[in-house]
Amino acid sequence: GLTWKLADHPKLPKCKTVAVVVLDGWGEASPNPYNCIHVADTPTMDSLKNKGVPDRWRLARAHGTAVGLPSDDDMGNSEVGHNALGAGRIFAQGAKLVDLALASGKIYEGEGFKYIKECFENGTLHLIGLLSDGGVHSRLDQLQLLLKGASEHGAKRIRVHILTDGRDVLDGTSVEFVETLENDLSKLREKGVDAKIASGGGRMYVTMDRYENDWGVVKRGWDAQVLGEAPYKFRNALEAVKKLREEANANDQYLPPFVIFDENGMAVGPILDGDAVVTFNFRADRMVMPAKAFEYEDFDKFDRVRFPKIHYAGMLQYDGELKLPSHYLVSPPEIERTSGEYLVHNGVRTFACSETVKFGHVTFFWNGNRSGYFNEEMEEYVEIPSDSGIPFNVQPKMKALKIAEKARDAILGGKFHQVRVNLPNGDMVGHTGDIEATIVACKAADDAVKMILDAIEQVGGIYVVSADHGNAEDMVKKNKKGEPLLDKNGNVQILTSHTLQPVPIAIGGPGLLPGVRFRKDVPDGGLANVAATVMNLHGFEAPSDYEPTLIEVSDN
Ligand code: 3PG
Ligand code: CO
Repeated sequence: GLTWKLADHPKLPKCKTVAVVVLDGWGEASPNPYNCIHVADTPTMDSLKNKGVPDRWRLARAHGTAVGLPSDDDMGNSEVGHNALGAGRIFAQGAKLVDLALASGKIYEGEGFKYIKECFENGTLHLIGLLSDGGVHSRLDQLQLLLKGASEHGAKRIRVHILTDGRDVLDGTSVEFVETLENDLSKLREKGVDAKIASGGGRMYVTMDRYENDWGVVKRGWDAQVLGEAPYKFRNALEAVKKLREEANANDQYLPPFVIFDENGMAVGPILDGDAVVTFNFRADRMVMPAKAFEYEDFDKFDRVRFPKIHYAGMLQYDGELKLPSHYLVSPPEIERTSGEYLVHNGVRTFACSETVKFGHVTFFWNGNRSGYFNEEMEEYVEIPSDSGIPFNVQPKMKALKIAEKARDAILGGKFHQVRVNLPNGDMVGHTGDIEATIVACKAADDAVKMILDAIEQVGGIYVVSADHGNAEDMVKKNKKGEPLLDKNGNVQILTSHTLQPVPIAIGGPGLLPGVRFRKDVPDGGLANVAATVMNLHGFEAPSDYEPTLIEVSDN
């Protein structure tokens, strides 16, 4: 049987306080004007790197196969990054599992597909999700395969509800993705399938909110997708995206909701009784809220007006604790026995904190896409409300200092053995593409790190500072030679997305034995090696199937 008991580490004592700091979107890259971390004043992070203490700073792989993504061309992201950090093992992630299920055709034999198929005879199949090839939440090629497969398995009427990206991919690429999709849909129509785009909107403004930051976002999606109502009406999606992008300050991430109308002025694809709905994103965080709206009979987050009787399935199950949604096309990775669960079983009291937009990262993702506590007596999770309605580049400091204050208080309070935070700035501001603001953001995150390290100094504790993936260290699209690419107006092409860069990891603090250092024999170490490392710093050996620890203890 499974034993939760961890062996004591042969050399490392139980530490009273370990701070685990995750800088979101903080990669390591060569210095250049578009490396906002380099440009920003970041004395604390610089000192961790240049301390002169050998072997307590290194890089860790945070993208591609190191975090369970299909290939090393896949940039890192917060879901897979925090999953790896918390679970200590590399799991084939949603992107990969969906690829496999589509390639083998198993997706069409599963319970989820059979469930939605029951509606194909008399109803419409609606596909809702992020339209891009970013590979973070969804992938266009998977949607294309699903469209083809669903029609071959009997779907006669299909409506796609698109969410434009510009965050995991370059802004403006929505146009080409819509063209590609329209082309596929017209091929389906030639085969006699009534297939159309029915509605759309920008991912940050329509449907894809997370951690209950703003239900209005989900409502705008509901109104367009289910009710067929939106402030903008177009005859086709290409025209919609092109026109809406012409508005001042418009970008793919924030396009307003629109609905496609037919020649009689009727919405072409509201969701009706007897229809099937699939949310085709594999990533969980931004699908939990819409999944609740589609699945829950009792629901008070906004007025749904109409709650159609549908068969709803997610591409994956998005929340393992809530079992939400109850139907899904592909089983999610089984991320069990995470470090958080082990540690509470071994008496480690844990405090976790971030602001709303990243709160689930250090809790839900960290714990293997599981909401809630393992043991309420041993854990406390604190969410600082994010500023709502203010773009992150306007308020680039975000709540970093508040998060750090909470962490400081938790450290000084002496009640918790692990104090874990996510500092969102590099990522959330990096995604806006605003370079000046991202520089301010990086400094704010650095200030927050300082406050936490000062508290660790005071209590004689240990710190681990790392990141989940890159973002702020590279803000332009570059060619193979590393030179910035220019658009047709001669401006550099801003990179709003994450990167393929490794992330720093630093350990230290007065509680760390002098002989502790990073090993030399795990040069390819990545985020999944951090969990065993942290367990060691708490004074425990990691379970034997965890990725190896990054540290060793010499006797001198
Ligand atoms: C988002 O959802 O904001 C981006 O697609 C990915 O960012 P994250 O992985 O840092 O959350
Ligand atoms: Co991000």
